[in-house]
Amino acid sequence: MATPCRLMLILLAAVAAAASHPAHEFCAASGGGGGAGSCGGGDGTRILIKGGTVVNAHRAEEADVYIEDGVVVAVRPNIPVGDDNVKVIDATGKYVMPGGIDPHTHLEMEFMGTVTIDDFFSGHAAALAGGTTMHIDFVIPVNGNLTAGIESYKHKAEKSAMDYGFHMAITKWDDEVSREMEVMVKEHGINSFKFFMAYKGSLMVTDDLLLQGLQKCKSLGALAMVHAENGDAVAEGQQRMIDLGITGPEGHALSRPPVLEGEATSRAIRLAKFVNTPLYVVHVMSIDAMEEIAKAKREGQRVIGEPVVSGLVLDDSWLWDPDFATASKYVMSPPIREAGHGKALQAALSSGILQLVGTDHCTFNSTQKAFGSDDFRKIPNGVNGIEERMHIIWDTMVETGKITVTDYVRVTSTECAKIFNIYPRKGAILEGSDADIIILNPKRSFVMGTHTHHSRSNTNVYEGRKGKGLVEVTISRGRVVWEDGNLNVVPGSGRYIRTPPFGYLFDGIEKSDAIYRAGLRAPVVRSKAAA
Ligand code: URP
Ligand code: ZN
Ligand code: ZN
Repeated sequence: MATPCRLMLILLAAVAAAASHPAHEFCAASGGGGGAGSCGGGDGTRILIKGGTVVNAHRAEEADVYIEDGVVVAVRPNIPVGDDNVKVIDATGKYVMPGGIDPHTHLEMEFMGTVTIDDFFSGHAAALAGGTTMHIDFVIPVNGNLTAGIESYKHKAEKSAMDYGFHMAITKWDDEVSREMEVMVKEHGINSFKFFMAYKGSLMVTDDLLLQGLQKCKSLGALAMVHAENGDAVAEGQQRMIDLGITGPEGHALSRPPVLEGEATSRAIRLAKFVNTPLYVVHVMSIDAMEEIAKAKREGQRVIGEPVVSGLVLDDSWLWDPDFATASKYVMSPPIREAGHGKALQAALSSGILQLVGTDHCTFNSTQKAFGSDDFRKIPNGVNGIEERMHIIWDTMVETGKITVTDYVRVTSTECAKIFNIYPRKGAILEGSDADIIILNPKRSFVMGTHTHHSRSNTNVYEGRKGKGLVEVTISRGRVVWEDGNLNVVPGSGRYIRTPPFGYLFDGIEKSDAIYRAGLRAPVVRSKAAA
């Protein structure tokens, strides 16, 4: 765990930053088209990154990058240094890439009778140290109320140290929720809603609600997201394990097998097809779910599949570990699967069946995990990853030749920015983009674990993991926040990034709707006499 001095909090700077970014200030987005938007870094810092390979999702080039006031001003070879007040960073032999964007996190989330241990400060410190400069977190409504939910999350995010956006979960349905969804999109800059098909008795929605929600999402130009597991069958599976006397963490995996993930994924995809609206499947953990997505894509349906780092590189053998503290660390839903699923998900990521990588960062410490020491159903579900994602994906996918460097940028940053309609302000190093940038040295290696991580948790599911490719520098909106192993983060400096509706996934939906209507050949006009 990080010590307070390692975090190097510059409190004076924090006060100044809080003054220039009032706690509830929500900056205007660039209206979907991109550009720098109305909230640059604003502190006058000038940085010149020289001699590196600048990688965007569309191409890699040898170029320098000049940053002023939180924004990328120039990307071209041989930019002269200018004056002494410019910080020059030598990136020779290194990759200069857009900071990671994590589409799936749960900071300070109330869940399963406790609260995730990383909040919008420690989670951001961890993210920045690992090369992630933005994330999108899930707002959980308060007793089903979306307004109360967003107010609560705005408060939680006051200590943010990097840019963030919000998705919103929908946990009940009535006219008020339907009206509030519109308010969330139009007034609060949220363009995605998540429906949990699992967690019976708490967050789970019925098919009826899912159908209403899909229709509402479509009308608002908002992306519907699903946690796809059959929650009724999971509850049965859990009882079956308890009846068999299986109360330990292995019961978690046994009670919710891949078939239940495949079934729910297929159901959600088919309902989205019926409504003709795009669908985003979060944390795809199994071959079963991935193949449903592949099939739908082959048929031309707009379905996005998001694997998470744990599902790509871990396997369920940990859940059988005789030590409860070790085994319980790996409890998340859908469960980490048997060896073989991860490799198949990696292949699907390489081939584009799965499009972007999240973490589902949802950390609980060993004391919280111990709530379920007699009953796996009470182990809070979730694992870490916000700090580890960029390194693990580089090592697992790029170092092994499974994806190219440009694909790396696409799956860790650009695709997320495009899907949630904030590209090219985010997800690119182009003139006018926010200066969220990392410098990765492919020759250096990393070792992960609680001794170096910045999460507040006393455990790490990647403990002892080694690999190649090290993020040496992280720049967040034009400020160097991570360099030479030192973190310089400022609570209150993060900005809320509004995500505008009607992203690219909605282009042409009205045309396919029109073709559908034209193809109905109905109503048939029948003469009264014939009737
Ligand atoms: O185990 C998990 N995934 N915890 C976070 C909540 C969710 O389902 O995304
Ligand atoms: Zn989920
Ligand atoms: Zn999640």
